[in-house]
Amino acid sequence: MKSALGCVLSALVASVYASSLHAVRHSPPHALRQIPPQLDYNLLPRAVCDNTNKSRHCWGNYSIDTNYYDETPDTGVTREYWLSVEEGSCAPDGYARQCQTVNGTVPGPTIIADWGDSLVIHVTNNLKSNGTAIHWHGLRQSGSNIYDGVPGITQCAIAIGQSMTYRFKVTQYGSSWYHSHFSLQYANGAFGGIVFNGPATSNYDEDLGHLFLSDWSHVDIFTRWFAARNGQPPALESGLINGTNKYDCSNSTTDPNCTGRGVKLTTVVEKGKKYRLRLVNAAVDGVFQFSIDKHKLKVIAADLVPIKPYSTSSLKITEGQRYDIIFHANQAVDNYWIRAGWLNACQPNEHPDSITSVLRYNASSTLDPTTTSDVTVSSDCLDEPLASLVPHVKIDVTNIQKSFDTYLNISKQVDYIHWTINTSSLVIDWANPTLKQVFNGESLFPTEYNVLAVNKTTTDNEWIVLVIQDQSNLNLEHPIHLHGHDFWILDQSTGTFDAATSPKNFKTKNPARRDVAALPGNGYLAIAFMPDNPGAWLCHCHIAWHASEGLSLEFLERRADIKADVSDSDLTQFNDICQTWSDSVGTQAFPQEDSGI
Ligand code: C2O
Repeated sequence: MKSALGCVLSALVASVYASSLHAVRHSPPHALRQIPPQLDYNLLPRAVCDNTNKSRHCWGNYSIDTNYYDETPDTGVTREYWLSVEEGSCAPDGYARQCQTVNGTVPGPTIIADWGDSLVIHVTNNLKSNGTAIHWHGLRQSGSNIYDGVPGITQCAIAIGQSMTYRFKVTQYGSSWYHSHFSLQYANGAFGGIVFNGPATSNYDEDLGHLFLSDWSHVDIFTRWFAARNGQPPALESGLINGTNKYDCSNSTTDPNCTGRGVKLTTVVEKGKKYRLRLVNAAVDGVFQFSIDKHKLKVIAADLVPIKPYSTSSLKITEGQRYDIIFHANQAVDNYWIRAGWLNACQPNEHPDSITSVLRYNASSTLDPTTTSDVTVSSDCLDEPLASLVPHVKIDVTNIQKSFDTYLNISKQVDYIHWTINTSSLVIDWANPTLKQVFNGESLFPTEYNVLAVNKTTTDNEWIVLVIQDQSNLNLEHPIHLHGHDFWILDQSTGTFDAATSPKNFKTKNPARRDVAALPGNGYLAIAFMPDNPGAWLCHCHIAWHASEGLSLEFLERRADIKADVSDSDLTQFNDICQTWSDSVGTQAFPQEDSGI
């Protein structure tokens, strides 16, 4: 077929060439420039599809259809960032307290890169009395487990004054966030956004970037831990959108910390345009039902997975999750409330309805919106319906090789409440990460490291399943997050898992996939992933209190293959960070009062 077409083409070229030679003798024939006869048909320039506001599915020689688990562009570009984890006084909602931040702001700077770039990120610990480490939430870290940023699992804590350089390749695109994974630091403000540019499943005109939704305490979160760890977590005073809000000080006139100088975030739009927003639930403990008064939301990605767009008037987001949405500024020129939509039934907050920001069509307006919401408040704390979250790149779960059926329980112990999963509660040592034990060739891990070994048994595609059955009887939802993978959600149910019959109901045909999903209270969550990424990967509840209370296990995936991904310089730095941490403990020890993660 190809050679037949080639013959037709060269015959055509030859005849054009001949006739133009007759017509114009002294200048080169135009036909030569249009179809040079020496070029093979297959080498004609390929049309590159540009990503514009009318073709967001395009991405040069790649597109929204590319299977991004198998293929990544290579841009040859390395982007370098410098992050400083520090602390100081701040008043993001107009109430002064001590915060921990990245580069002095809440949120910290956004890490921006293109799909296929390489990132080099230098993190310096400029705190006064804590170790630290930064985790890049949702990034699969294919072949770079050592840069996953979890002290006690993939590295030692970075000591005060010390820097660590994280290096990894951008193999995904979309919206995510980074945060300290050292105990509760991120709940004090140590987090920021990640944007990886790439194609999208629907068109929009402008990218408005992140919208971080969070709850916010008026005192250092570590002091809150002492109450939270014994039972029902405290209701926090406030909440923020992109690190800002206006706290009402009219009832606190004698409190010198209540300055009343907070401001609400304002977003200005132009009527007729379509805008992309990157929503993140960065709460310590809280579920949002996000909405914009009078505007529909088109949802185009769940975590780092582009989905078939769907339209909704509100969107439920559990802790750690992200959604990319597009809204059309097609309403009357006016001011509208953007509502984080704190669900007080999931966890109380002292000012649940004030976590809002302002959408303005007219930039010069200074009025507060007077709009009301027509959203029906959700009565549960679960995810968006799974049926809405259809991945654009379709992948089925086929060959289930192993299933870990685990149980979640809770028990009161002397120090604090411990959640147990797979019979133990996670507690790690910042000086002795799992990877160090792997590099040392140790074969027995401490029980509190809660290690589950995962291996690959065939060369075929094969799948590992994790089932978590909640037996704690508290009817609380838990947002389960897995490091190092997207997972495929086979089932998310309020019932009791039965190993003999329940798997028959698993959804295996292109199920929703992402990196955080809700485990329904008293129910179970069944997720699947492929053992394609050697490393020590945490799997934990993204409610900060619960992570501190040990609600975590870790997969040690293909242990024998881990070392091959680690270069000499990676290892030198790894050992150096551990050595400095060990040397500094004693002079600047921070007492570990929780699981450490
Ligand atoms: Cu957002 Cu273990 O991470």
